[in-house]
Amino acid sequence: MRHQGSAATAAEGAGRTVGSDDDESGDAAPDDVARPSAAELDRYAVTPAGSVRGFHYVDGELHAERAALSAIAQRFGTPCYVYSRAALVGAFREFDAAFAGLPHLVCYAMKANPSLAILDLFASLGSGFDIVSGGELARVQAAGGDPRNVVFSGVGKSDAEMEAALAAGVLCFNVESPAELDHLAAVAARMSVRAPISFRVNPDVDPRTHPYIATGLRESKFGVGIDCAHALYRRAAAMPSIEIRGIDMHIGSQITELAPYREAAAKMLSLVDALVGDGIVLSHVDFGGGLGTRYRDEAPVAIADYAAMVRELMRGRNERLLFEPGRRLVADAGVLLTRVRVVKAAGERRFAVVDAAMNDLLRPALYGAWHAVDAVHPRTEGAARYDIVGPVCESGDFLAHDRMLALAEGDLLAVRSAGAYAMAMSSNYNARPRASEVLVDDDVTHLIRRRETFAELIAQETRLPPQSAR
Ligand code: LLP
Repeated sequence: MRHQGSAATAAEGAGRTVGSDDDESGDAAPDDVARPSAAELDRYAVTPAGSVRGFHYVDGELHAERAALSAIAQRFGTPCYVYSRAALVGAFREFDAAFAGLPHLVCYAMKANPSLAILDLFASLGSGFDIVSGGELARVQAAGGDPRNVVFSGVGKSDAEMEAALAAGVLCFNVESPAELDHLAAVAARMSVRAPISFRVNPDVDPRTHPYIATGLRESKFGVGIDCAHALYRRAAAMPSIEIRGIDMHIGSQITELAPYREAAAKMLSLVDALVGDGIVLSHVDFGGGLGTRYRDEAPVAIADYAAMVRELMRGRNERLLFEPGRRLVADAGVLLTRVRVVKAAGERRFAVVDAAMNDLLRPALYGAWHAVDAVHPRTEGAARYDIVGPVCESGDFLAHDRMLALAEGDLLAVRSAGAYAMAMSSNYNARPRASEVLVDDDVTHLIRRRETFAELIAQETRLPPQSAR
């Protein structure tokens, strides 16, 4: 394996690069054999043509592209997030190409994974960005992204964040309340500029997903009610420091059906048509993000089907299309690599205590999310049912429950679908330094974020002066 900065040498991890986790034969399925379903292709990050994009077994060991995960663990330690460049590029291209021929901009929802290297990669592919904070804007700028391709979402933008985004020249603010419109108009007037806006409309549609990540229902804190939006557009049109550009929706995340999108978009587009009566002509419509991926047995919407729906809805229209996909571009492109520290039993239960914890991957604890956990070197003998738990002092600190695995101390495990909302939601709980991140490009490994040090964990803090300390 080659590492960043080192000379290209013999590829340790080189081997067959086709086949999926289920099919280690490495042979492409002949035409008379059933092809894997779209969902299976997603899970295993295999292109429809059958070539591997991301993670696969070679000679009994899980690899990221052509890099052996054991070599990555040895070099960079665990826990460690490992991303596949090819999987990231493949996911972006698939999404972008689905809208070929239509004026569009994919604005990657960077909250899913804000790593500079990933932003840089997507920017180089022509991606814009959906941001929700001044910090995310700073990250886009640090990664060399173009603020003119940035849409700024979020229900509580501060004046300082608005100023920074106006100064940077973002494409559009997705305004989520009448009060925000007033704040933004005032900030823009102070700066003697016009703020480009969309309203994020709340179409009151049930996206049928986890309640924490459903955003398009009437009672949600997000967006402006679709019934009030027309009046708001009229009001905004009369504001000299506001320039109306478009309309936006985002109804939720990990959505696995097309129907909620169709229903919501139809409502949004009929509002766009109604606005013309008031002389308000929009130049873009933003469909938001939310397309789900397969963690376990979900059947995600195929990008091609989503695109066909969008094309049908947009027939005869000429607004530019914006999209804000997050999870779908990155989830399958990452694993969390962790090592078993201790195996123990308690009554009937067996635990594998690993070195990754809820501070590294919060999704299981927060949403009860299910992530596949695979051994880097799978064995069949001695398999038993394990709870995969971390060292953090909470019973809610688990990565997975009831998984059949043959495990021993020192074994490496890969927690799948960890490219999205994983490192992004990590913390320093229990004074644990955050994990390192590695991006693999064929057989080259790039350390894109080194592990935090203990010194960094306390660097922002000061002790009390002696007279107040006791
Ligand atoms: N646009 C807006 C305005 C959003 O709020 C979000 C996600 C997206 C786009 C991207 O959605 P995606 O395509 O990734 O579904 N932490 C949760 C997910 C929270 C999503 C928040 N908003 C999780 O781990 O499942």
